[in-house]
Amino acid sequence: MFVPETAHLDPETPNISRIYDYYLGGAFNLPVDRERADVIKSVLPGMEMLARFNRGFLRRSVAFMVEQGVTQFLDLGSGLPTAGNTHEVAHALDPAAKVVYVDYEPVAVALGERILRDNPNAVMVGADARRPDDLFAHPEVRRVLDPDRPLGVLMTGVMVFVGDHEDPTGLMKAYRDLCAPGSYIALSHLTDERADPETKVQVHAMVEAYKGVIEQLYVRDLAGVRALFDGMALVEPGVTLMPEWRPRPGPDIPTGSPAHHLGYAAVGRVG
Ligand SMILES: C[S@@+](CC[C@H](N)C(=O)[O-])C[C@H]1O[C@@H](n2cnc3c(N)ncnc32)[C@H](O)[C@@H]1O
Repeated sequence: MFVPETAHLDPETPNISRIYDYYLGGAFNLPVDRERADVIKSVLPGMEMLARFNRGFLRRSVAFMVEQGVTQFLDLGSGLPTAGNTHEVAHALDPAAKVVYVDYEPVAVALGERILRDNPNAVMVGADARRPDDLFAHPEVRRVLDPDRPLGVLMTGVMVFVGDHEDPTGLMKAYRDLCAPGSYIALSHLTDERADPETKVQVHAMVEAYKGVIEQLYVRDLAGVRALFDGMALVEPGVTLMPEWRPRPGPDIPTGSPAHHLGYAAVGRVG
């Protein structure tokens, strides 16, 4: 059983990364997280499946990047480094790959540091992904990653926290400019435009149910997600529903769940 160990880990307040860990079947969550997660699931029954589709895309995109020769990864808005996250996939294929996880939430960072403390090739950094220049100047990022070589950047389930007033396309451009040619950026995003009417209502109830844990979730359509890849070449098959991006045999095979239609995903190549 997971027992919180530090002052950061308030057992009375639900937490986004631990709720997400619970959806993924992880062990790093508390009763207060499970209670809130169950409320969210009661308004959007496909929530757990949505989290699994999202993580499935992340896993396939990391494997794809390793196959393209990428040996270093920057995972923005990573949540906890558990439940099949980036370093687990990358290190299964290339044990020497370097992985920097980034989250702005103190709980995720404290837990991540603890989980990775004995791992020489993966670190957790506390930083705001909306400040790419500060992030690339961060001592741990500079120590672990070589910006002159191709990077695999993961932005799965994180642009949903960035509103249009924060210029998400400008943010993507900034990352594109900071990455060496041959880098890849993988992104997944919540959408409701392909949902049936009942599920669409449920998505909006879910966004409401998250308030109090996080400020706001933003839902985008295909044009909005495509715009984030301006200036990059999209890897085949382009922007797809999350489970349809290069599916592999196994648990990621698309199901009949309404959650199938609730996320877009794509990988872009820099340079
Ligand atoms: C839905 S989880 C996604 C986890 C993981 N990336 C995945 O796809 O499985 C989103 C995470 O992004 C983090 N996050 C949101 N906005 C962020 C920002 N501006 N900078 C860093 N982390 C952020 C949240 O704290 C949360 O842990």
